[in-house]
Amino acid sequence: MAENVPFLDIVDLNVHYGGIHALRNINLQIAKGEIASVIGANGAGKSTLLKTIGSVKAFTSGSIKINGAEIPRQSYQVVKAGVTLVPEGRRIFGPLSVKENLLLGAYSKSDTEQIDRTMEEVFTLFPVLRDRAKQPGGTLSGGEQQMLAIGRALMSEPQLLLLDEPSLGLAPLIIDLVLDTIVKLNEETGLTILLVEQNASLALEISDHSFVLETGEIKIRGRGIDLLDDPRVKESYLGLSAA
Ligand SMILES: Nc1ncnc2c1ncn2[C@@H]1O[C@H](COP(=O)(O)OP(=O)(O)OP(=O)(O)O)[C@@H](O)[C@H]1O
Ligand SMILES: [Mg+2]
Repeated sequence: MAENVPFLDIVDLNVHYGGIHALRNINLQIAKGEIASVIGANGAGKSTLLKTIGSVKAFTSGSIKINGAEIPRQSYQVVKAGVTLVPEGRRIFGPLSVKENLLLGAYSKSDTEQIDRTMEEVFTLFPVLRDRAKQPGGTLSGGEQQMLAIGRALMSEPQLLLLDEPSLGLAPLIIDLVLDTIVKLNEETGLTILLVEQNASLALEISDHSFVLETGEIKIRGRGIDLLDDPRVKESYLGLSAA
């Protein structure tokens, strides 16, 4: 694999819901080992972008490649190709135990010893999940459920983790904890992460690169740290005056 091939390479991507043109000519590249983020208002198309990368949603035209190869369009094959989506709203299976929820994430795996090792890694990253392993997933707090959703995704040993609004509905202290864990995961394992967030300042702070989506189009892009200082971003997304 040539060094200069982007890890995730999206070219001229268009996505429709019937007559609604939800994503327009999206071009987005991410290098291996990066944290990248997509910010934007409600309805901008952020979830649609993640769902399309994760092959939950079909696209009309364009291409999405990981490591130089087209991402398969069947969801079970996508996970095998190394792409795992943590959807908006977490989707924990309430009656199933924490451990059973984690095992669901390993459905594409058959080596039980490897599954045990991966679960140990998840428990090391999120000690609370080890403490609650036998408890029904639905009885966890919101923050713990988000950790379970991320932990379940990690059970598939992804190369690219897609996170849709991990901070949604969480108290500020818990948001910090979840985002700190995302940074730690990236630093310790080199996992490439694409994060969608309405909480723009937090997303920009932890991102190598960020993309601002407005009604289906990428309008601004740059390094996270630079976008924090960009007057257009400040005015529209950070709740600060450009002055
Ligand atoms: N299943 C669907 N059928 C029709 N239109 C849809 C569907 N899902 C999303 N859309 C439309 O596509 C556009 C983008 O929606 P999307 O959910 O991607 O936005 P978002 O940026 O994730 O918003 P939010 O911040 O509220 O989560 C919106 O106009 C939405 O109404
Ligand atoms: Mg969304």
